[in-house]
Formats: sequence, C-alpha cells, structure tokens
Amino acid sequence: MKAMIIEGYGGAELLKMSILPVPQPGPGELLVKVHACGVNPVDYKIRQGLLPLGLTFPIILGYDISGVVESIGPGVESFVPGDEVFYSPELTTPGGYAEYHVVSEAIVSLKPDGLSHAEAASIPLAASTAWQALFDRACIEAGDVVLIHGAAGGVGSMAVQLANWAGCEVFATASTSNREYVEELGADVVIDYTSANFVEVVREETGGQGVDMVLDTVGGDVLARSFETLAPHGCVVSIAPENLQGASMEALRAAFFKNAELHCLFVERRRDTLDALARLLERRFIEPLVEEILPLDKVANAHGRLETMHGRGKIVLRIVEE
Ligand SMILES: NC(=O)c1ccc[n+]([C@@H]2O[C@H](COP(=O)([O-])OP(=O)(O)OC[C@H]3O[C@@H](n4cnc5c(N)ncnc54)[C@H](OP(=O)(O)O)[C@@H]3O)[C@@H](O)[C@H]2O)c1
Repeated sequence: MKAMIIEGYGGAELLKMSILPVPQPGPGELLVKVHACGVNPVDYKIRQGLLPLGLTFPIILGYDISGVVESIGPGVESFVPGDEVFYSPELTTPGGYAEYHVVSEAIVSLKPDGLSHAEAASIPLAASTAWQALFDRACIEAGDVVLIHGAAGGVGSMAVQLANWAGCEVFATASTSNREYVEELGADVVIDYTSANFVEVVREETGGQGVDMVLDTVGGDVLARSFETLAPHGCVVSIAPENLQGASMEALRAAFFKNAELHCLFVERRRDTLDALARLLERRFIEPLVEEILPLDKVANAHGRLETMHGRGKIVLRIVEE
C-alpha cells in the first residue's frame, strides 16, 4: 500500500511516499480502507520529535480516519466488512497517512450519515477533545458562561459549536481575521486577542462576575491569565502543556482566590464520545469545518499551515476520490 512515512525526526521535508505491506487485523481489530485522513497539530509535534511516545521508524502519522471496513479479525463483534467508520487512532499505533489501517474495534464508531469521508475525517480528534473538555471535565450546563481560546482552530471551532448547542453563553478569542468566522460559529462575544485584553473584556461584559469555564487551547500565559476570568469555583480545562515557562506565576495566584479547578486533558479515544458527536452531526446541530482537502502526497503543505499555529477549521487528506 501507499503510505507517507518519516524515517527520522525533523522538518516536513522528511515526509515521503513509500510502499509498505498491507497490515493484517488481529483479534478484535478491523482492517480499514482509508478514504480520508484529518491532519492535526500533534502530527507535526510527533514529526519534530517533541512527544516521548517511544515510536519506532518508519512512522506513519495521521490521527483522524474515515474509511470503510475491508476485513475483520477474530472476535470482532460490532462491525462487518463494508461498514463506513470514523475514529482517531491511538498515538502509539500507526496513523492514517496510508491506504489501509488496522485499528481496535473498541475506539471505532459508525461514520455519521450525510457526511462525506472528508467531513467525517475532520471530526474525531478535535471534536472529541472539545466534547470531553466541556461535558466530561467541566460538566457545563445550559446557562453557563464559557470562554473558548483559539476559537477558530480545530478544537476551538468545535468547542464553540458544542457550547452554543448546550445553551451556554460563549466568549471566544481569535485574531482579527478570524473574528467573523467565530461569530458565525455561534460565539456571543468574540475577543480579538491581538488588540484587546481578554481578562478585561470578560470582566466588563460579565459585570465582574466572570465565566464558569475556560477551555485553554494555547497554554503559557493564556492558561495562567485565564484564572483571572473565572467566577468563584469556576474551572479551566487545558489541552496545551506547551510553554509553561512563559506563564506568569502572579496570574496563577488568581486560581486560589477563586477556589478554581484546573483539568489537564489528554483526549481519550472513546466510541461513546464519537457516537454522541455523530448524533449531533446527523441532526446538523454542529457542522464539520473542512477548510481544505489535499492529496496524500501534499501532506507537508498541511503541516506547514498548522505549524504557523493559526489554523482555521480542519485540513483533510483525500486518499480515495469520493
Ligand atoms: N491535550 C489534547 O488531548 C489535545 C487534543 C487536541 C489538540 N491539542 C493541542 O491543542 C492545540 C490546539 O489544537 P487545534 O487542533 O485547535 O490547533 P489549530 O487548528 O492549529 O488552531 C490553533 C488556533 O489557536 C489560535 N491561537 C494562536 N495563538 C492564540 C492566542 N494567543 N490566543 C488565542 N488563540 C490563539 C489560532 O487562531 P488565530 O489564527 O485566530 O490566532 C488557531 O485558530 C494544539 O497545540 C494541539 O496540539 C491537544
């Protein structure tokens, strides 16, 4: 099968097309013909050697897959060949920059009806992260006030839509060029972080009360300063362990005076999360946000765009023409 691989850590130029044997499914596993594969920041972080995952070369990256079950291993109970599925592979296993992929059935869900494979491949990793942050960790409810950082990005754009669907009042940060985009996603107050101090805007707009929950997708000082925006007993869910040395300890103090909670989230691959998202997607309560579709051999372009750290929506690789 064709696969884009890396044989060492470094720049995007290391991504190269290769021919590898088609993997075979073991007990409880599916062989999936990959139709589309989403690209995420974690792809370039692994490529750069920033995550200590103990992987061996050659590495196939790509942690968002939509495709069709080609065959099943012994003991598989939930799927049959021909099923259309979507999922996020575990980071410690090969990814989806390839024509075929083997996966444990435990983390797979049926592709939402009405979505193309490219649209479905934009969902699992980013939207599961947003779901688990908002509902499993922060337990947000209708009427809560939430602040979503990086609201135009893969995770943030899903979080804005989900919080809006849940009946929350949504504050969101984005740069100037993404302001309108984030408003259209359903944010009530968009804060242009390039020209305004998000702590002050939240204070003014909430009459000093603050927000119930913050989703931090940026890390560093954005994480530290987010505690200042909280209402008493509010919580911050951070998905960004980066740049902690850039965090002001003084800003962190606010966490104590607010009796705040901090949740450190590393997304879990769970079928129940995907099933919940599929129901919302099928009813069009939330929309997939595919900004660009590229052929597999152009994946380096997708890495380059994400490495600017100003991604909007999702970039997806098309492996089979739809
Ligand atoms: N822990 C986990 O399980 C987990 C899961 C998924 C993702 N992540 C991590 O979470 C981060 C975001 O992921 P993603 O897929 O959403 O990335 P993405 O699609 O590249 O989006 C990043 C967004 O951050 C915004 N941004 C950059 N600097 C900002 C700042 N100072 N304040 C507010 N927004 C800012 C950018 O918007 P503008 O262009 O408007 O600035 C961009 O839309 C990445 O580091 C990723 O690796 C972690």
